[in-house]
Amino acid sequence: MTQDELKQQVAIAAIEYVKGESIIGVGTGSTVNFFIDLLADFKNDIDAAVSSSIATTERLKKIGIRVIELSEVDRIGVYVDGADEVNPQKKMIKGGGGALTREKIVAAVSDKFVCIVDDSKCVDVMGKFPLPIEVIPMARSYVARELVKMGGQPIWRQDYITDNRCEIIDIHNMNIMEPMTLEKEINNIPGVVTVGLFALRDADVVLVGKGSEVITY
Ligand code: 5RP
Repeated sequence: MTQDELKQQVAIAAIEYVKGESIIGVGTGSTVNFFIDLLADFKNDIDAAVSSSIATTERLKKIGIRVIELSEVDRIGVYVDGADEVNPQKKMIKGGGGALTREKIVAAVSDKFVCIVDDSKCVDVMGKFPLPIEVIPMARSYVARELVKMGGQPIWRQDYITDNRCEIIDIHNMNIMEPMTLEKEINNIPGVVTVGLFALRDADVVLVGKGSEVITY
């Protein structure tokens, strides 16, 4: 199977989790795009969606799904999103597509986080994929120096501005042995908006496309 076929397969499996939900959260990225395209057939069953990025909002609207602001709801039944890496404890690195802050906010409000990935994203120890950190632009160099002290190699994602008008630093070569501790430590650096470690609010369900099957854990 190609990687796109694996993504399509997990997207189909994720549809089962939104059945019966009136408000759903929708993540960002190429895997979620397959999921959004499938949602077209269920749009009459869903009242509205809360989106995690401008790109996802546009895609949802194109297929006729109503997109509402997060502040219009106090809970979301289920949130479906991809990941850049996921470990056996369902902790993730996210933000390869730059939408980490809104993704983390929507995940926080959701009762259930369903992570959809192909098996290339499954790792035992996270950190091979550079860890994205969204920063307030004036703090970029300061945050980068602090990250060096923590043992990382920060690289500025040049010519990239997030939906929140902020910048991204990607940390290379970090073996993430204690994701929850690291998430808190990086969150504490002044100027950090969001770290792309999703360890404190991890996934509830992970659907992995592997060969011709979908593994659930
Ligand atoms: C975007 C994300 C995505 O979920 C992550 O990058 C995975 O994307 P893809 O499905 O394209 O591999 O966190 O900010």
